[in-house]
Amino acid sequence: MNVQTEIESIDDLIEQARHVLPGGSFGNMPAEVILKEGRGGRIWDEAGREYVDFLLGSGPMFVGHAHPDVTAAVQAQVPLGTTFFGNNRHGIALAEAICDAVPCAEQVRFVCSGTEADLYAMRAARAFRKRDKILKFEGGYHGMSDYALMSLAPKRPGNFPRPSPDSAGIPKSVQDEMLVAAFNDIGMVESLIEEQKDELAGVIVEPFQRLIPPNPGFLQALRAVTTRHGIPLIFDEVVTGFRFALGGAQEYYGVTPDLCTLGKIVGGGFALAAIAGRADIMKHFDRLAMDDEDFIFQVGTLSGNPVAAVAGLATLEVLKRPGAYEQVFATGRELMAALAGLLKNAGIKAQVIGEPPLFDVVFTDQPIKDYRDTLHGDAVTLKRFNQLLRARGIMKGESKYYVSLAHPRADIDQTIGAWTEAVRELQS
Ligand SMILES: Cc1ncc(COP(=O)(O)O)c(C=O)c1O
Repeated sequence: MNVQTEIESIDDLIEQARHVLPGGSFGNMPAEVILKEGRGGRIWDEAGREYVDFLLGSGPMFVGHAHPDVTAAVQAQVPLGTTFFGNNRHGIALAEAICDAVPCAEQVRFVCSGTEADLYAMRAARAFRKRDKILKFEGGYHGMSDYALMSLAPKRPGNFPRPSPDSAGIPKSVQDEMLVAAFNDIGMVESLIEEQKDELAGVIVEPFQRLIPPNPGFLQALRAVTTRHGIPLIFDEVVTGFRFALGGAQEYYGVTPDLCTLGKIVGGGFALAAIAGRADIMKHFDRLAMDDEDFIFQVGTLSGNPVAAVAGLATLEVLKRPGAYEQVFATGRELMAALAGLLKNAGIKAQVIGEPPLFDVVFTDQPIKDYRDTLHGDAVTLKRFNQLLRARGIMKGESKYYVSLAHPRADIDQTIGAWTEAVRELQS
């Protein structure tokens, strides 16, 4: 097929996409969203519409789109070569920066996506423990592997700890290798771990599950019970890494896992993710240190590529500047309080949940501590609210406001203005 060069309008693009992409989409966002440009905390679509951007590429663009320092680092690297497969100094420097910043990180293995990082972290736990089963939490997202897509979003949740697959195409046998528990229910997790300790390879958890913060003491208790039985605890920090603090959620909540996975921000908007953690577990990735049966086979064409590495390093440098996190938290706190206030004054049953760098509204007044509680949220109203906001120049995903360092006063004011109008529309 000829490459079409004369695309006139966004409608033409939508039509073109419909032919060549299933559902007309990359699978991430609705087909009618076609984005063209991003600068700072704003993006523009192919129709020329401008948005305050809380989608932020689904999280990576924490310092803003096309940040001058990140752009300069990438532009300096590109003419020197974009990928080598072998080690490069920038990837080594990024691994060192991760070990400096992230409490559990003694060593790092690079991959290209959060999905891969989670898949290999689970494999590392299995190799280390010489057992097969992994415990995850209902509603917890760990990418798209067969193992991760167990009880991410069950429509009719079943009995714990039996998981249900979230996708077609997953072998039935995988169901037997995963266990699920309720997030924030330490009683359930403790008894499950006690019961299954001889079969468990590891526990994987989002320390901040989607939008749900851990109850005080939950992560500490999880740490204690896994330590007691020598079971590796994996924090999935693909979202929270470098977002909640330079050391991620493990620094923010003060609980250090054995392994963590990083993605999104660590690649500065390029394809890079990582598994990081205890050297005695990470050493299973080292062919020279391991017998054949203990060695984790892991290679990847673009792993640690220098373009993503310099972008990640430049991003971390921006985040290390004094006041960076204070600014993000101040922005997030102001936004959360404003939205909660508007909804309350309007008498709408809703709550704003999350942490300042990452939050959203849930349309229910019932407390939310785990996945099943989120099912009380009125999804239809949330969808309508998001549509009203999109029409008013606010871009976000289905259920998340990613706050960035590049949201200045004008963005905050415009967002609050849009919320004010959209809440009024919800009332009418
Ligand atoms: C907590 C968490 N883990 C893993 C992933 C998967 O990362 P990726 O989309 O890079 O495969 C995501 C993606 O949003 C995530 O939020």
